[in-house]
Amino acid sequence: MPLVTSTEMFKKAYAGGYAIGAFNVNNMETIQGIVMAAKEVNAPLILQVSSGARKYANPIYLKKLVEAAVEDSGLPICLHLDHGDTFELCKDCIDKGFTSVMIDASSHSFADNIKITKNVVEYAHDHGVVVEAELGKLAGIEDAVNVSAEDSCYTDPAQVQEFVSRTNVDSLAIAIGTSHGAYKFKGEPKLRFDILEEVGRRLPGFPIVLHGASSVPQYLVEQINAYGGNMPGARGVPEEMLRKAASMAVCKINIDSDLRMAVTATIRKYFSENPSHFDPRQYLGPARLAVRDIVKHKIIEVLGCNDKA
Ligand code: G3H
Ligand code: 13P
Ligand code: ZN
Repeated sequence: MPLVTSTEMFKKAYAGGYAIGAFNVNNMETIQGIVMAAKEVNAPLILQVSSGARKYANPIYLKKLVEAAVEDSGLPICLHLDHGDTFELCKDCIDKGFTSVMIDASSHSFADNIKITKNVVEYAHDHGVVVEAELGKLAGIEDAVNVSAEDSCYTDPAQVQEFVSRTNVDSLAIAIGTSHGAYKFKGEPKLRFDILEEVGRRLPGFPIVLHGASSVPQYLVEQINAYGGNMPGARGVPEEMLRKAASMAVCKINIDSDLRMAVTATIRKYFSENPSHFDPRQYLGPARLAVRDIVKHKIIEVLGCNDKA
């Protein structure tokens, strides 16, 4: 089976009240850990590459690794560009064989966001590729995403119909209070489900995307802190909130930070217990299994997309 788009995945997810996991990938071990989990529980997958990941690994290596994952697993896998910020970047991924791209023009005005998104959609659709766009701004700092809490803003549901009909985009990321990274809430976690509900009412059957959806498990924070790390106050989106979003219009849930933490927690513990080891396979192997375990947990307990491949 070749790489697939997310079209069928989203149709089934919307109808079934579950979501597809979109996991960020940068290297072989992470890809293998995610795919092991999906294979064990027969789940469809979206593997996504940020521009930081492209710079780190070179997209051609990641594309070949994802193709190997398809061949190895036989699962439906969509290869997606995460947070593409220009037409040129999206075009390059489309030309290289990605089956889905995100154009994130959410930092531009509403009119410019429409213009830039529409351009990408036209090129992508001509090449059989689907497009995700973003309305509203999530806070957070990653390599390619840098929005302060003051500059973040919730999606205005009054804008979504016009945006979707004028751009012909295939899915839409909205801002309801999540943010990127491991420090999402200072006080009690709170998401604007009223906005999600209103967006769902205005766009019936249309797939919505939730970014910044790591739940930052406390056992990983504790393990990192216990072995020389320092992540006080790290806090993510409670799993029950993610389950609720998946039962509503959210069909794609983006997870990156939790996988990073699983890898880091495992390697920190490994070196503390085996200070003389220096063969990377000895610590990357357990890190790969930690990715497998957390992804399996997400698929079964949070996303609900097990047995949906
Ligand atoms: O949304 C951002 C993703 O977590 C990717 O992060 O830009 O550091 O690769 P990155
Ligand atoms: P997290 O930082 O919550 O994992 O979000 C990842 C993301 O939204 C990638 O686009
Ligand atoms: Zn994101």
